[in-house]
Order: sequence, then structure tokens, then C-alpha cells
Amino acid sequence: MAAPMTEIRRVGVLGCGLMGTGIAQVAAAAGYETLVRDVAPEIWSRARANIEKSLAKLIEKGKLTAADRDATLKRLAFTTATRDLKACDIVLEAVTEDLELKNALWKELDQVCGPATIFASNTSSLTIAAMAAATKRGDRFVGLHFFNPVPLMQLVEVVRTVTTSDDTYARAFAFAKSLGKEPVAAKDASGFLVNLLLVPYLLDAVRAVERHVGSVTDIDRAMQLGCGHPMGPLTLLDFVGLDTTHKIAEIMFHEYREAKYAPPPLLRRMVLAGMLGRKSGKGFYDYSVDPPASSDLGL
Ligand code: 3HC
Repeated sequence: MAAPMTEIRRVGVLGCGLMGTGIAQVAAAAGYETLVRDVAPEIWSRARANIEKSLAKLIEKGKLTAADRDATLKRLAFTTATRDLKACDIVLEAVTEDLELKNALWKELDQVCGPATIFASNTSSLTIAAMAAATKRGDRFVGLHFFNPVPLMQLVEVVRTVTTSDDTYARAFAFAKSLGKEPVAAKDASGFLVNLLLVPYLLDAVRAVERHVGSVTDIDRAMQLGCGHPMGPLTLLDFVGLDTTHKIAEIMFHEYREAKYAPPPLLRRMVLAGMLGRKSGKGFYDYSVDPPASSDLGL
């Protein structure tokens, strides 16, 4: 597959955690030469292994051919040097929700990337304006917010901030479409569309556990069977990561000063205890057993 007609050929990805890995996969699968930057080769190996696993699943489901898998993997490269992304036409950032860390990377890239390069953050809750202002390309800065698992979820929120130019916005929108995603337009308000609604819901599910309204499994079953959700909220929290959700909630609470975004004490305790969800093997469920069993939360 040749790179789609979006005037974008080379894609840079900052960070290959869960989201960065998924973004790199869909960019390479869509035909873009994709260069991923993360701090250590062990992280690349894990990312590549996860991409191979995901591509194997897609082949098993008849959604991908072996030739497309090979071509996708060939288009993927990794580096530890941020400056290696200098020739990219768009850079997508998916590092930890830490504004200082993100802005240090953006500032470095702003020096080395050409004037046409678009900067796009996958932040879940920070404002795009706070990153755009750290660079000299506020007009070429957008949010492109993907959803986990990136290869399966259709949505990308395309976020326009006060400085984003019409041209940049149109190109970012077209780029999201070229990845086979369904873009929706969102303004630069913390949480954008989905997390604005989803985060209070997830936090309320934790409050329901704290208040013994129902058991962990019953709360999940209730939302699956009563509302047709593919996952109950506590399973979803484990899937997204309790630390990630806690961080997002803190940022949104700081932004809006509304109680509905305040992380509940139980969530904080679980993060402190290292119960981060699937990635740590234990959260609301214990993943060391098959099928996962609900954890003893000492309530
Ligand atoms: N790549 C390829 N295949 C994958 C995959 C991946 N990354 N992840 C899962 N799959 C496969 C599974 O292996 C499974 O294959 P199988 O049928 O052969 O076992 C298949 O997809 C279907 O998965 P499941 O059987 O587990 O069941 P589901 O039908 O429930 O699908 C799901 C999984 C798509 C994750 C679905 O449960 C779902 O939509 N869950 C909700 C996810 C969600 O809400 N995401 C948004 C989170 S919020 C967010 O990301 C924003 C951020 O800012 C916090």
C-alpha cells in the first residue's frame, strides 16, 4: 500500500506505551513510514512484540493478509533520539500525561523539524494550548486523541485549539481518516468529548464500590447487560489503567474544580498499592487466575 494522499509521508510517534504502540501500528498499516521514539530498546522490543501479536490477531480474523503484516512491520522503525524525527511530516505524541515532559520533547522537536511539520498530541486531558504555547508553531498544533485498543477502536477526536490554523486542522482530520478511523471534531476543553463524559462515569463506578452499592462483578454485569456496554466500568478501568485514570481525573479536577472529576479515595489507595489494572496483573480483578476473579479490596 502506498502512503495515502494527505501530503504526509513520514510519521513520527513519541512514546511507545500502550497508546503510542497502537498509533504506530495503525500509521504503519495505513502505508506511512513510521519512526517511533522511546527511551530504551527494551521498550521497543515490547512494542514490536505487541504489534506482532495484534497483527497476528487481525490475520486470524481475516482482516489482514500476511503480506500486509510484513509490509506494516517493514515500515516501522525505532529510535531513542528525538531529533531523528526531524524529517517527519507529522509527529504524534503519546507519552505520560506530564506537561513538562511533553513540552520538553516538543521544544526539542520544534528546533529540528521543518516548518511544515504538524505536531499532534494524544493527550487525554491536558489542554492542547498549553503544549502549542511551548513551541513556535501554535498554528500547526492539534490534538489527535485515539482510543484503546487503537487498532480496534474507530474513533479519533481531532482537537482544535485557539491557535490551530484551518489548513492544519483539515490536514490532521484527513490524516485521521487515512488511518481508517472515524474522526470527530472537538474543542480544546480538558477531556474533549469522550473523557468529559466517560471519566465521571468511571469514577462513579468506583464510588459505587466504596459505598457497597453492588459487588465489582455485579456493577460490571449491570452496565453490560443493562446498557449494552462491551465492558463494565471496573473492567474498563483495569483496561485503561488505574494510574492513568487517576492522573486524568486529577487534571480534569484541577481544570474544572467540579467534584465529579475528583478521584475517589479507593482509586488513590489502589494506585498507591500498585494495583494498576491489567498492566500490573491486578486491579479491580486479579489477572493471575483464568478467568480473572474480583480482587479483595479490604472493604
Ligand atoms: N489488536 C488486535 N486484536 C485485538 C486487540 C488488538 N489490540 N485487542 C483485542 N483484540 C482482539 C481480542 O484478542 C479478541 O480476539 P478473539 O475474539 O480471537 O479472542 C477480539 O479482539 C475481541 O475481543 P474480546 O473477545 O476480548 O471481546 P470484545 O468483543 O469485548 O472486544 C474490545 C474487545 C474491542 C476491547 C471491547 O471490549 C471494547 O470495545 N471495550 C471497550 C473499550 C473502550 O471503551 N475503550 C476506550 C477506553 S477510553 C480511552 O481509550 C481514552 C483514554 O484517554 C483513557
